[in-house]
Amino acid sequence: MYKTFYSLLREPFAKDTDPSEAYPGAAFQEALQALEYVKRTRGIGLLIGEPGVGKTFALRALKESLSPSLHHVVYFPLSTGGVMDFYRGLALGLGEEPKYRKVDLFRQIQQAIERLHHERRITPVFISDEMHFAKDAFLQDIAILFNFEMDSTNPFVLILAGLPHLQGKLRLNQHRPLDQRIIMHHAMPDGAAGEGRGGGLHRASVETGRGKASDLHAVGVGGDRSAVAGVAPCDQHVGHDVLVVGASAEKGRH
Ligand SMILES: Nc1ncnc2c1ncn2[C@@H]1O[C@H](COP(=O)(O)OP(=O)(O)OP(=O)(O)O)[C@@H](O)[C@H]1O
Ligand SMILES: [Mg+2]
Repeated sequence: MYKTFYSLLREPFAKDTDPSEAYPGAAFQEALQALEYVKRTRGIGLLIGEPGVGKTFALRALKESLSPSLHHVVYFPLSTGGVMDFYRGLALGLGEEPKYRKVDLFRQIQQAIERLHHERRITPVFISDEMHFAKDAFLQDIAILFNFEMDSTNPFVLILAGLPHLQGKLRLNQHRPLDQRIIMHHAMPDGAAGEGRGGGLHRASVETGRGKASDLHAVGVGGDRSAVAGVAPCDQHVGHDVLVVGASAEKGRH
C-alpha cells in the first residue's frame, strides 16, 4: 500500500535486504564494532535486543565481512530444531559426519574446531541466533562444548544472539560458567532509544520518487513524504507504522 505512495522500488525491512545496503545508523555501526571485537579477540560474544532492532541483520553483515580464507562460518538459528539437531548441525557445518552419541559428538566438534584453527589457520565462527529459546540444559552444554581451557587462546568465535531476557537467563547461577566466559555483551537500542522513531527507509534498498530516502531527514510521523527517511533499524514494526500513518495522513489532506 504505502510502497506505491512513497514510490519505493522494494519492500522496506525485507528479510533479504543485502547488508551492503545497510542503513549505517549508530545502532548498526555499534553492533558491528562489538561483533568485530569478538572476531578479533576470539571467544564468546552476546548480542541482544528487542524484536526487529536489527540483530539478525547485523549478524548477516558480520558474516558477509568475513574472509573464507580466515574464517569458517557456521550459522545456526536455534528455532530450527531440537538440541541434538543443533549439535549435528555444528558437526556437519564443520565438515564432519556427525557421531551418534552425544559425548562422541561433542569430542568430534571440539577436535574439528581445534584442527581448523591450529592446522589450517582458519577460525570457526559460530553464529547462534534466537538463543532466547535455549533451554537451561542446552546453555549448560554450550559451556562444556566451547570450553578449550587447554588452549592459551580461544580457537573459535561464538556469537549468541537473542531477545533481552537471554541476558537475564545467563545471569542465573547455573549459567555462570558460560556467562563468565562472555567477553562482549552488546544490547542494541530499541526504537525509543535508538535512531528515533521517525527513522525510516533506507539508503540503497529504497528510493523515493524525490531522490534517495537517506537524503531526507525524519521529522516524525507526518503528512509530508519527506518526513520519512532512513530505515528504522530501531524497529521494523515502528517503521511500517510510520509509513502507513504518513501515507494516510498525506492522502487525507487532498
Ligand atoms: N541497518 C539496517 N539497514 C537496513 N535494513 C535494516 C537494518 N537493520 C535492520 N534492517 C531491516 O529490519 C529488518 C528486521 O531486522 P532483523 O531481522 O535483523 O531484526 P532482529 O533484531 O533479528 O529481530 P528478531 O528478534 O525479531 O529476530 C531486517 O529484515 C532488515 O530488512
Ligand atoms: Mg532475528
